Amino acid sequence: MNLSDRVILIVDDVSENIQVASNVLKPLGSALSFAKSGKEALRIIKNQKPSLVLLDVTMPEMDGYEVCKILKDDILYSDIPVIFVTARNNIDDLVKGFNCGGIDYITKPFHKRELFIRVKTHLQNFVIQERIKEQLDYLLQEHKRLKLFNSQQSKMASVGEMLASISHQWKQPLSAISMSTADTKIKELLKDTPDEAVINNLETIEKQIEFMISTMHNFKNFFKPDKEKTKFSLMQSSYELINLFSKNFIENNIVINLHSKNERDIEVFGYENMYKQALINIIANAADAIIENSSDNKDIYVECDSDGEYGIVTITNYAGQIPEENIDKIFDQFFTTKGDRGSGIGLSMTKQIIEDLDSGKVTAENIEDGVVFTIKLPLK
Ligand SMILES: Nc1ncnc2c1ncn2[C@@H]1O[C@H](COP(=O)(O)OP(=O)(O)OP(=O)(O)O)[C@@H](O)[C@H]1O
Ligand SMILES: [Mg+2]
Repeated sequence: MNLSDRVILIVDDVSENIQVASNVLKPLGSALSFAKSGKEALRIIKNQKPSLVLLDVTMPEMDGYEVCKILKDDILYSDIPVIFVTARNNIDDLVKGFNCGGIDYITKPFHKRELFIRVKTHLQNFVIQERIKEQLDYLLQEHKRLKLFNSQQSKMASVGEMLASISHQWKQPLSAISMSTADTKIKELLKDTPDEAVINNLETIEKQIEFMISTMHNFKNFFKPDKEKTKFSLMQSSYELINLFSKNFIENNIVINLHSKNERDIEVFGYENMYKQALINIIANAADAIIENSSDNKDIYVECDSDGEYGIVTITNYAGQIPEENIDKIFDQFFTTKGDRGSGIGLSMTKQIIEDLDSGKVTAENIEDGVVFTIKLPLK
């Protein structure tokens, strides 16, 4: 185990003792720090965060027990193993050492090999414990993330199911309306002098019905979870998504401009509906910013491109920048500047979709007067 990036602090008020201990511990390869009093030791611990403290018990002003107690009471340092080194060797002193949080106890004069082995063992243990803790923290975070992600996904799926049942319920009445519209239109057309206005109205009804059916179909598909990764066209998929939600934006005079750089279509490999969900989260944020800042520029630009390895989509809006202190946090779960109107889930979900599921990358960057988000998805 490599211990060279670790610091061992040796605390003793007698310089010769420090010298002897450091000669013994040198072969471990760790950095060695020294303190000649309790106060100095506490200062060094705060600055250098050692991985082990070799602590003399008998020192003027503040003895080793006191130093150890202070450490063990501080959550930041309580994990650091403390080994007492002392000439006192009666059982009461030993018990006192363990009671105030020491992990081991070595009596002076010590055997050099014993000191070496004890320090090495406790240091290695500490490093292993630290790694286990890191792994556990990571797993816990992952678990939380997945739980939230799954609950979002199942919400999406239940909206999809609801839409499916509504569209099933509406199929019958819509086709009845459609049939009687067609019937009325034929009757009108068969008249000697058909009424143009009536025919126009009937055609409008027909178009509206068609629109309702296709919207229902598209929304139903949008909320359906992807079963597997497929190849899909970035332009086509972005177009469908923008089309689906364009009504919401038109109300606020927001215009979404979609175009492909180099005029070519780019096919990427991933979960298509997930991509659409990621894209709508970013577009919705851009629209929020335009509305919130009453921006004069109400355009959102969605541009597709490729660098030969990735399909690249940039989403740009000019409603002001994201404050520098926030830009590193916007992808964090629950980070929002919208108070009760935001949940802070949009971008964290977007990141999960693009990076964890689709092995892509999503980033945000301030530009003059605005913000550009970049989504990269692998071509294959
Ligand atoms: N285009 C943008 N312009 C300015 N700020 C933005 C933009 N996009 C994102 N942000 C900032 O990032 C924050 C996080 O966005 P995110 O979508 O994760 O959450 P939200 O929009 O606040 O809530 P919701 O979960 O409902 O989407 C926003 O609150 C906003 O401060
Ligand atoms: Mg959002």
